[in-house]
Amino acid sequence: MSTVSASSSREHRVTARSLQRRKRRGEPFSMLTAYDFPFARIFDQSGVDVLLVGDSLGNTVQGQDNTLPVTLDEVVYHTRMVARATRRALVVGDMPFGSYQVSAEDAVRSAIRLVKEGGAHAVKLEGGRSAEAAIERISAADIPVMGHVGLTPQSIHAMGGYRVQGRSDAGRDRVLADALAVEAAGAFAVVLEGMPADLAREITGRLAIPTIGIGAGVGCDAQVLVMHDLLGLSDWTPSFAKQYANLGAVASKAVRTYVDEVVHRKFPGDEHSYR
Ligand code: KIV
Repeated sequence: MSTVSASSSREHRVTARSLQRRKRRGEPFSMLTAYDFPFARIFDQSGVDVLLVGDSLGNTVQGQDNTLPVTLDEVVYHTRMVARATRRALVVGDMPFGSYQVSAEDAVRSAIRLVKEGGAHAVKLEGGRSAEAAIERISAADIPVMGHVGLTPQSIHAMGGYRVQGRSDAGRDRVLADALAVEAAGAFAVVLEGMPADLAREITGRLAIPTIGIGAGVGCDAQVLVMHDLLGLSDWTPSFAKQYANLGAVASKAVRTYVDEVVHRKFPGDEHSYR
């Protein structure tokens, strides 16, 4: 076990409340998506504070064009793997399209599944004023809720594509009203996605709960990235994301070498063979 993992295992679990304390102290924190056991374990041991089992798994894991086809069963399945791998990080299960929009009762039922079957410590859902009732009811069931406003990928058809939100005066007012509504409904934190950096900074100053930015500049209380963007596992990296490693290239080189060694009878060697 590495030094990082040994010290991580002694650390306390990150909680919704401890993240709020971090905001009050002005200490930024990190969130990263995770969808399976091996990566979740690495991220947890590397000190990521929050692991989000995002419905982005529709794109990154399933190869779909958008997140709309992702089902609650699928998020529960991936959340279970991630939760099993973590000792320190807060695990947030993302509520997929259709699992909370019909009624607040539906929303509570879906959130309970993510906690009970998936092992999530909190849930996330998209929408501002439209999601108020769902946030209130889930919070009333003692499940911490993370909001998500600005560019909300589940609204792809209503938005006419993935468009930066809040560029016009009316748009700014809408995004701000959404963020305030999410806080008033009882969310413990809110993702700010795809908006001008100065708007995200203003919202961060107006809210008591932490803001977690993605494509929203450095003025947020925390940042989130999709793991495939950070590690170079997707075909392209969005302009707001930073690729910290190119695991795709490393994997490709390793697999090409393996194929070559098999074809030329270099693998398996004596050291990989039983006597
Ligand atoms: O689904 C997801 O991964 C997300 C993050 C990009 C915030 O919602």
